[in-house]
Amino acid sequence: MHVLVLLLLIVECWSWGNINVVIDDKGGYNITIGRRVWLRSFRTAIYVDNKWYSSDDNTLPLTDISYTSGFDPNLGDYRDFQLNYDLVRDGIHTKIVGHIRDWYRAFGISFHLDTGDRPLTNTVPLDMDHVCTVFPSFHIEQIDQNDQRGYFTFEGGMSGNDGKHAGWWNSSSKVIQSGMQSGPVVLFNLTEQGEGDMLVLSPFSQFMATSLSQTKSNILEFGVMGSMLSIPANYIHSMMVFYALNGINEGIREWGQIMQSEYTRTNQHRLSDVTINYLGYYTDNGGYYYYNTEKEINYEETMVNVRHQISLPFRYMQFDSWWYYKGMGNGVSQWTARPDIFPDGLQAVHRRLENISLAAHNRYWAYDTVYKQNYSFVLDESNNKALPIGNDLFWIDLFTQAHD
Ligand SMILES: *[C@@H]1O[C@H](CO)[C@@H](O)[C@H](O)[C@H]1NC(C)=O
Ligand SMILES: *[C@@H]1O[C@H](CO)[C@@H](O)[C@H](O)[C@H]1NC(C)=O
Ligand SMILES: *[C@@H]1O[C@H](CO)[C@@H](O)[C@H](O)[C@H]1NC(C)=O
Ligand SMILES: *[C@@H]1O[C@H](CO)[C@@H](O)[C@H](O)[C@H]1NC(C)=O
Ligand SMILES: *[C@@H]1O[C@H](CO)[C@@H](O)[C@H](O)[C@H]1NC(C)=O
Repeated sequence: MHVLVLLLLIVECWSWGNINVVIDDKGGYNITIGRRVWLRSFRTAIYVDNKWYSSDDNTLPLTDISYTSGFDPNLGDYRDFQLNYDLVRDGIHTKIVGHIRDWYRAFGISFHLDTGDRPLTNTVPLDMDHVCTVFPSFHIEQIDQNDQRGYFTFEGGMSGNDGKHAGWWNSSSKVIQSGMQSGPVVLFNLTEQGEGDMLVLSPFSQFMATSLSQTKSNILEFGVMGSMLSIPANYIHSMMVFYALNGINEGIREWGQIMQSEYTRTNQHRLSDVTINYLGYYTDNGGYYYYNTEKEINYEETMVNVRHQISLPFRYMQFDSWWYYKGMGNGVSQWTARPDIFPDGLQAVHRRLENISLAAHNRYWAYDTVYKQNYSFVLDESNNKALPIGNDLFWIDLFTQAHD
């Protein structure tokens, strides 16, 4: 009997793991690793009808906390705690539910906000660097003198490479500089030199509509971007606090695997990509032929010379942003070869290069892109960019036309 009890205890420890969430009766929640608090909650809030409703001043009161369990086909079992709030606008009650999910496989705790069965609208939007729903939110703080933690995050252009930064995790840290530009945040134990416990704070759904923001009082808030004027009825967004125990690099890989599992993605395309598996000849920024040709000859002749005179077994050639037409803000207006670059056209150059594979650069679409004549684009006057929407046909046609 004693053995059985002991076994059950061990199983319990193994299964739900080292990361835990502790919830109090006021709806406060702490994320702990081992016995240490890593994240302490602040408030739950909604901006609707141009005003804030928040749990911290009781304009968004917590009615009760409930508990269920559930099963996700990709990630398995979880326990689900529900913080139930009562949003009252002009006498109409809307139930807002903050779900906290503790996953059996112990890779983390996720937070899901269900904004209720009515659309939430504003006429005066917030800034796009802020959020108009807040759940979860956490203090950026040093918990006590023994707490030596650091963070690392991606931010800005080039997939977050341009503005990536790291520092101490305490109340004077500027972790998120701009919600629009920010990416996932990695938190780690500096005493273990980043080789032990770590967390990744990242969106878990609605990736294009949600954001992290940091307030003046150093609260990290997650939610819908502030510039959005309305949130549809029955909308749910979520954030993952992912946990791993073998350091930053391994942890980020494991986080990626969880994200891939949840969205049933594999590495199949990446693993068969010519540009990742073989040697290529690059004309990218830093390369000799980046916006530069041999003296007195054009790009076509220069590339043919490279192909014939460099005796390395490269399997593809990369043409950087010099080869196509640009429009407003240096975006792409038309993704075809310019006559001053390849006078005979891309296909003829390809023949002269003995049909070697080409990696052809593209970047954001310019506001004045020619493709907006025939396909739907969202046009952004503030940054002179254009985004193709809602039609795969644009991409199919583009690649069909570029295909040899
Ligand atoms: C969260 O952690 C703080 C600091 O350790 C503590 O004061 C508070 O009571 C904890 N709250 C919960 C819900 O455990
Ligand atoms: C960081 O690691 C050290 C050494 O293992 C440990 O004593 C400390 O409690 C850890 N800090 C946190 C915040 O987990
Ligand atoms: C945060 O950490 C930095 C680096 O150790 C230190 O200079 C700063 O005083 C700390 N801020 C607070 C509020 O502890
Ligand atoms: C390149 O491809 C074209 C079209 O498929 C073919 O006719 C030609 O023989 C190929 N050239 C070489 C060198 O393989
Ligand atoms: C738009 O479609 C017309 C009719 O098919 C075609 O002639 C024209 O080249 C297309 N324009 C672009 C930029 O693709």
